[in-house]
Amino acid sequence: MYCIRSVTGDLYWIGGNDRQSTLFESAHPVPRGMSYNSYLLMDEKTVLFDTVDRSIQSQFFENLEHVLDGRRLDYVVIHHMEPDHAATLGDLMLRYPDVVIICSKKAVDMIHQFHCTDSQNIRAVREGDTLETGRHHITFYEAPMVHWPEVLVSYDSTDKLLFSADAFGTFGALNGVLFADEVDFDRDWLDECRRYYTNIVGKYGPQVTSLLKKLSALDLQIICSLHGPVWRKNLDYLLDKYRTWAAYQPEVQGVLIAFASVYGGTETAASILACRLAELGIPVEMHDVSMTHPSYVLSDAFKYSHLVFASTTYNNGIFVTMENLLHDIASHALRGRKVAFIQNGSWAPASAKLMKQLLEPLKDMEFLDQPVTLKSSLAPGQEAELEAMARRLADSVHGVQPQSEEAPAPQKPKGFICKICGYILESDVLPPDFVCPICRRPASDFEPLS
Ligand code: FEO
Repeated sequence: MYCIRSVTGDLYWIGGNDRQSTLFESAHPVPRGMSYNSYLLMDEKTVLFDTVDRSIQSQFFENLEHVLDGRRLDYVVIHHMEPDHAATLGDLMLRYPDVVIICSKKAVDMIHQFHCTDSQNIRAVREGDTLETGRHHITFYEAPMVHWPEVLVSYDSTDKLLFSADAFGTFGALNGVLFADEVDFDRDWLDECRRYYTNIVGKYGPQVTSLLKKLSALDLQIICSLHGPVWRKNLDYLLDKYRTWAAYQPEVQGVLIAFASVYGGTETAASILACRLAELGIPVEMHDVSMTHPSYVLSDAFKYSHLVFASTTYNNGIFVTMENLLHDIASHALRGRKVAFIQNGSWAPASAKLMKQLLEPLKDMEFLDQPVTLKSSLAPGQEAELEAMARRLADSVHGVQPQSEEAPAPQKPKGFICKICGYILESDVLPPDFVCPICRRPASDFEPLS
């Protein structure tokens, strides 16, 4: 049975929701499901705007057949070739062999790659090309890397309506809702919208900014994304969020603490830091990165201005879940955050230096203070170091610059590190006959701490 909603007088939502798949793109948990939107325009010409993910194809084809009600399908516009939208294009062409596919030039190649089809009914369009359907006038705009290189968006100047592809989408099934003004979006949807943006498109901030610039020249009244609700009111709310996210600006001046703790020592230090920050009135969020999927932590890393990473040292490296998170943050090109570290290591703490190495290549990152170093657990009196870190973070959140002329010069660690196992000999001299107590290697395998 069909399940559709009307968007405008002659435009219909004919998509569907997948509530059974646990992961989107085999990577991101979707506990609230996922919507795959498709829209059908019933003008003098009929135009389908994108197909859907294979998970909901039965519902989609029933919807399409119902709304067409015996009319032929003239065009299908493919804004984005990723299979969560275009997986059913091949089946569509079998059912409607005369349909003309409209897409970008790059998408033509992808249609061959994904569907191995001929190109007789494909019309490649470029920036500024138009489609007249009768009452409606549609203009195409290129939006490369929002989220793939072939992406188009299109603008219907009759209804002042934008088909935005992945842009302005969100995780979550629609549950009967079609319009964002039918829900409390800020309370119930924004977190999933931010998680969708940061994980799927977050790497491409400059390209999103470029698209937003193009859109600023258009009179936008309705936005139809390929995921999540349609926007017809308060569009500035969403556009402002996108401007902020695309520019990598934090939404909250506060501290995200992400920690990886094996036996609890690192977690205790992270918790004490969080207490001190809260007492200072600083907004704090915490995630155990071994328990929380990195897509949520990445989203909060975009949200907060200050980030603290606390990790035990593991196999002479960063603990595995923290290393995975930091690679994820680095690959999404987050920038402009202020960062501090807590490290732990029972004999050779090294995670702070290694975590910093992963984040240093990112643009405009500022690293605060020396790390707090634990050896197995917080030593008596060491809570003062966490208090000092909390005060430094609070000052930074409030925009207070450190008084560098009064700050003591950072102490260079003295000692030698075993290149094989990471054991640190705390000493000014390395005896020539020294043997590593851990791996039994000679002094020649040691180097001075830098
Ligand atoms: Fe919703 Fe990039 O696909």
